[in-house]
Amino acid sequence: MGKFTVLNHPLIQHKLTIIRRKETGSNEFRRIVGEIAGLMTYEITRDLPLQDVEIETPMGKTVQKELAGKKLTIVPILRAGMGMVNGVLEMIPSAKVGVVGMYRDEETLKPVEYFFKVPKDVTERECLVVDPMLATGGSANLAIEALKKRGVTDIKLAVLVAAPEGVKAVQAENPDVDIYAAALDDKLLPNGYIFPGLGDAGDRIFGTK
Ligand code: URA
Repeated sequence: MGKFTVLNHPLIQHKLTIIRRKETGSNEFRRIVGEIAGLMTYEITRDLPLQDVEIETPMGKTVQKELAGKKLTIVPILRAGMGMVNGVLEMIPSAKVGVVGMYRDEETLKPVEYFFKVPKDVTERECLVVDPMLATGGSANLAIEALKKRGVTDIKLAVLVAAPEGVKAVQAENPDVDIYAAALDDKLLPNGYIFPGLGDAGDRIFGTK
């Protein structure tokens, strides 16, 4: 089963509390979502492999470390996932960005893929799927499936707030995917929102309400 990790760094927890407050406006909300995504990236990439590289400083030759292994593609799930992209890019500016668009079918309440665009070499890359809220897990599973269908084998999922139901659903359908969250909340409400959560992440990031 994939690992589920809550990144309980004090800075992450403090910033998350600010965006949970209902009085926090879009400007601050959007900025802090990016900051948390950046801090999460720092933690998620803790074990990235390094290799030796010989370089020359102004003082002479030396062997130092550089990143080895697969390059990263950030895959935001539209629309709220876009709010996390810049924060990840600030930590890993060379990452590419793929996009998966989902809408919720009003009758079945299930997510449906309507847009998919990723870099050509995506199968050689590690993909970090990002979405602020892991509620039922339906969108995350569909986004992961969309990547796997195109041959991607190395996938991680990063969310700000996870509901236990969503974690279980992703672990059940995609046991090879590690999940990282800033918080594990109490539960999913019957209307599909997470409690205590932070409300509608997309509306709060984009100021649409
Ligand atoms: N999506 C949101 O934006 N908020 C929730 O609480 C659950 C899903």
